Amino acid sequence: MEPPSGPASRRHVPWSRLLLAGSLLNFWTPPTATQLTVETVPPLAAEGSDVLLLAHNVTKNTLGYSWQRGERVDNAQLIASYRVDTNATTNGPVYSGRETLYPNGTLLIRNVTQRDTGSYTLLVTKNDLQTEIQTGHLHVHPVLPSPVITSNNSNPREHEDTVVLTCGSETQNTSYMWWINSQSLPKSTRLELSEDKRTLTVVAVTRNDTGPYVCEARNPVSVSRSDPFTLDVLSPVAKPSLQASNTRVTEHEGPVILTCLADETGVSIRWFFKGQSLLLAQRMTLSSDNSTLTIDPVSREDTGDYQCEAFNRGNSSRSDPLRLRVTWRENSRALGVGAITGIVIGVLLVLTLLAVLGHFIFLHRGNWPPASTSGRGPSGSSVS
Ligand SMILES: *[C@@H]1O[C@H](CO)[C@@H](O)[C@H](O)[C@H]1NC(C)=O
Ligand SMILES: *[C@@H]1O[C@H](CO)[C@@H](O)[C@H](O)[C@H]1NC(C)=O
Ligand SMILES: *[C@@H]1O[C@H](CO)[C@@H](O)[C@H](O)[C@H]1NC(C)=O
Ligand SMILES: *[C@@H]1O[C@H](CO)[C@@H](O)[C@H](O)[C@H]1NC(C)=O
Ligand SMILES: *[C@@H]1O[C@H](CO)[C@@H](O)[C@H](O)[C@H]1NC(C)=O
Ligand SMILES: *[C@@H]1O[C@H](CO)[C@@H](O)[C@H](O)[C@H]1NC(C)=O
Ligand SMILES: *[C@@H]1O[C@H](CO)[C@@H](O)[C@H](O)[C@H]1NC(C)=O
Ligand SMILES: *[C@@H]1O[C@H](CO)[C@@H](O)[C@H](O)[C@H]1NC(C)=O
Ligand SMILES: *[C@@H]1O[C@H](CO)[C@@H](O)[C@H](O)[C@H]1NC(C)=O
Repeated sequence: MEPPSGPASRRHVPWSRLLLAGSLLNFWTPPTATQLTVETVPPLAAEGSDVLLLAHNVTKNTLGYSWQRGERVDNAQLIASYRVDTNATTNGPVYSGRETLYPNGTLLIRNVTQRDTGSYTLLVTKNDLQTEIQTGHLHVHPVLPSPVITSNNSNPREHEDTVVLTCGSETQNTSYMWWINSQSLPKSTRLELSEDKRTLTVVAVTRNDTGPYVCEARNPVSVSRSDPFTLDVLSPVAKPSLQASNTRVTEHEGPVILTCLADETGVSIRWFFKGQSLLLAQRMTLSSDNSTLTIDPVSREDTGDYQCEAFNRGNSSRSDPLRLRVTWRENSRALGVGAITGIVIGVLLVLTLLAVLGHFIFLHRGNWPPASTSGRGPSGSSVS
């Protein structure tokens, strides 16, 4: 293709027309001693940072520069143009307020966003109206927020459920890593990573898969780790067994100690009496882990079936019932009272008897030896 000829007279052509005229030459690259280049600094731009599109090897005798979005010179995509002789910058239709064009041809973009990702084309118009064009590229990467691990099942059942853990929301060009219990993933046929490693599948979970899990998201400009995530695996609870120090007791005699044997850690224990939740009476005490119930003193009201139940968050199991029999002597209290009353009555009887006897002796002693003449005794009774 033939290079189009430049305008005949430079003096009478308006500046904007001049730039446009220059842009028409963009497919004609004259041989130059030095090559105009555009360098993006930093090469990996994080969202929110400031980026320079540095113009290197710009010829000394320039009339001006212009920067446009895209891969070609297009006034509709003009960001700004700079005129060397007046130091004047003219903003174009896609100027966002964040761009600065320096006298050396370099473009500064402040506070970049992902929407700024793309190509930027520099047009250099020389004094002889020849132009140089170079395109630079900007790739703005998001600064990844701390990912959150989510599970598709918050209460998976042991040996039954398969759980899918997901590391954060989907973002492009992000790589992922996982740790379980602060270790990298163990080799296991039950652990499967998706191709991008964003999701981790735990097949047929067991209580040993509880975690904690941590994942990391990484892109060219940032690395961020999740908070630890713990998987609450619901495991079935084995049936506990219930033992008693003795099952036949006499009321008020000795304590009765009931012990619940649950052979798992992580289970809690609760008690049942006659099928109902046990209401703790004053005479009953539970050990700190609730596995031992002590009844002291035992009362006849404590007769009945006892059960203990081992439970965790999702499952529970109750022991077989154990019957406690409290016996007591019928009327034992009444008998005691009767005995005391009997003794008191007996003593009173004896005392009365003694009094009567004493009186009798005194009476006879007072008249001893009996008077031969007078027939009147001290008792006032007359003896004829
Ligand atoms: C400037 O141009 C020369 C010659 O083309 C080249 O060797 C050099 O690398 C260029 N400098 C930069 C910073 O691009
Ligand atoms: C152009 O000027 C800017 C601002 O003074 C500076 O940061 C940049 O390094 C300069 N460009 C080159 C290629 O030296
Ligand atoms: C343009 O700026 C330079 C220094 O940056 C200064 O020396 C020159 O006088 C300025 N020209 C005009 C027309 O303002
Ligand atoms: C950067 O841009 C974001 C929107 O993209 C804005 O919320 C923020 O305030 C800007 N920061 C500065 C320092 O201008
Ligand atoms: C979670 O995802 C796994 C694998 O796709 C599936 O087998 C399981 O049923 C899902 N769980 C729930 C609660 O959706
Ligand atoms: C992801 O990376 C590829 C290759 O580096 C690039 O073409 C693509 O635009 C990037 N996507 C995002 C959203 O950064
Ligand atoms: C959990 O791990 C312990 C110790 O490594 C092992 O004895 C037990 O069988 C495991 N349980 C399950 C359900 O995998
Ligand atoms: C014991 O049981 C009581 C209720 O009777 C409950 O409040 C307490 O948390 C239990 N203690 C333990 C260690 O399970
Ligand atoms: C406890 O788990 C077993 C086995 O998963 C199940 O059969 C039983 O119904 C569960 N019991 C309760 C009370 O949830």
